[in-house]
Amino acid sequence: MAAAHQSGAPSLSARDLVAGYLPGIEILHGVSVDVLPYEVRAVLGPNGTGKSTLLKVLYGFLKPGAGEIKSGSRVLTGAAPHEMGGYGIVYLPQRPSVFPFLSVEVNLRLGAWRLRSRHGLVREKIERAFAQFPALYEKRHQSAGTLSGGQQRQLEFARSLLLDPNVYLIDEPTASIEPRIATQIYELIQGLAQQGKAILLVDQNIKGALGIADYVYVMRTGSLYTEGKRAEFGEDVELLVSQWLYTHHAPKPS
Ligand SMILES: Nc1ncnc2c1ncn2[C@@H]1O[C@H](COP(=O)(O)OP(=O)(O)OP(=O)(O)O)[C@@H](O)[C@H]1O
Ligand SMILES: [Mg+2]
Repeated sequence: MAAAHQSGAPSLSARDLVAGYLPGIEILHGVSVDVLPYEVRAVLGPNGTGKSTLLKVLYGFLKPGAGEIKSGSRVLTGAAPHEMGGYGIVYLPQRPSVFPFLSVEVNLRLGAWRLRSRHGLVREKIERAFAQFPALYEKRHQSAGTLSGGQQRQLEFARSLLLDPNVYLIDEPTASIEPRIATQIYELIQGLAQQGKAILLVDQNIKGALGIADYVYVMRTGSLYTEGKRAEFGEDVELLVSQWLYTHHAPKPS
């Protein structure tokens, strides 16, 4: 956990978000979250409860019917996804977002699209990314679609680093990924928090997410059921969270 460096102001905060996909069908019923530098904040909840919807609203894919999203004093409610990179926010969706028919190297270059006129800087950043992910360097001329699921995830992280974002919105980064690689991905996310990034991590892997979370949001049917610092939930947090998620009469924390 990165709790040693608490820094106060959220990098991204959302208040009372209400949203849905179809008229009259509300999926989020008023959700508030804060994403802080040096912290991993986990959003846990059962299938279909609105976790991915929350990230889509935060990143501007879905406009909230009510509520507010802010980064510092800047209001981002209604901003479009293509504007988010400019605000230092990246989104890694539930399904890997690499371009499967393009090479690993070209995928990385596309991550630096906003810097495309600064050739030297782009080259330097790509070299740095390959130094951090040597397995990607080995496969730089291969199509990204031929990489394993774990390596595709690494490529997404490598690509995101080129823009040096402040905020990561990450959806199920280890779904369908073998446990050894999943551990590496959690370490990678934890490392980003230790560098000062603010991370909102949606996950069904309770154990994996709790292993690196500083703060936990528990969602049920489109609302926050409970929330709090990971450490305050105590040693039995994994069991508690499982009860909150999968039983209807579990005692809430006071
Ligand atoms: N594009 C869409 N159009 C209409 N309804 C949708 C759409 N995407 C999701 N939904 C519905 O919104 C609700 C919340 O879905 P969401 O994907 O946010 O859940 P989730 O908590 O991420 O679930 P999971 O853990 O399975 O990924 C579900 O009832 C789902 O069927
Ligand atoms: Mg989801």
